[in-house]
Amino acid sequence: KTCTLVGAPVQSGASQPGCIMGPDAFRTARLAETLGELGHSVSDTGNVSATDLPDVSHSNGAIHDLAQTVAWAKALESAAFEAAQSSDMPIFLGGDHSLSIGTVPGIARHWATKDRPLFVLWLDAHPDFHTLETTSSGNLHGTPVAYFSGLPGFEVYPPLAAPVDPANLCMLGIRSVDPAENAALAEREVDVSDMRAIDEHGIAAPLRAFLERVREANGALHVSLDVDFLEPSIAPAVGTTVPGGATFREAHLVMEMLCDSGLVTSLDMVELNPFLDERGRTASLMVDLCASLMGRKVLDRPTRRF
Ligand code: ARG
Ligand code: MN
Ligand code: MN
Ligand code: MN
Repeated sequence: KTCTLVGAPVQSGASQPGCIMGPDAFRTARLAETLGELGHSVSDTGNVSATDLPDVSHSNGAIHDLAQTVAWAKALESAAFEAAQSSDMPIFLGGDHSLSIGTVPGIARHWATKDRPLFVLWLDAHPDFHTLETTSSGNLHGTPVAYFSGLPGFEVYPPLAAPVDPANLCMLGIRSVDPAENAALAEREVDVSDMRAIDEHGIAAPLRAFLERVREANGALHVSLDVDFLEPSIAPAVGTTVPGGATFREAHLVMEMLCDSGLVTSLDMVELNPFLDERGRTASLMVDLCASLMGRKVLDRPTRRF
């Protein structure tokens, strides 16, 4: 496949700085070389920048860096649309999760021109389902999913060319949900598997069911992988650790099943804060997960079937 790496050094959506270094940590952990060794043709377009700040405001006084977030959203929407037009597999190197306020709408606009519905797999401890009214932390990395799903109250974010149908969303790994997010999720048919469901059924069952839906709809599939999806003891480099995350094997299994499905058309790797890492282990784990998604296997022959 042709893979385009797009650096998105966004940190304005998080509470603490550090994600600005994320794209370079992924590069240092040999992401491009690793994908090249798997037989892909990789180009790194460097980092997107967002310098022109719009004059915007909101009545929720907790919100910080609204203008910077809107500037990133516009720049990344265009970068994502272009990367999707010109390659098989855009990979966005974050940056905090507010970058998906730009990448997902840009990817959705591309697939709308091909008449294919976009599905989104959200691998995260959090649903990031706040509106601008409901966020009490004011950290805008908590808002991308509500926005690109077309919920009201986002007049200050850029207008959406192609909202993602909430029925086309799947969330896995969820274990930290604010009350307003809980209420908003209860009202809609979002496919959410919290850690309780994963403990009971395993991680493969809900993923398999979702992939079946994507295939039946001839959908494109965007995967958004937040570092905090993972168990903090294996992935410490994130500002919002929540205990009880996906294990090393669960995370690789998800990536391997996604690879086998052949359905994934774009990827965000977000919330890596290299300032919090231990000798690059989180960056390296994220690169290894990306490698599993892009074809690295233990055995060359097909997996045994029972
Ligand atoms: N729900 C919390 C908030 O709104 C945490 C959000 C964490 N999001 C993330 N992308 N890490 O502040
Ligand atoms: Mn997130
Ligand atoms: Mn998260
Ligand atoms: Mn909150």
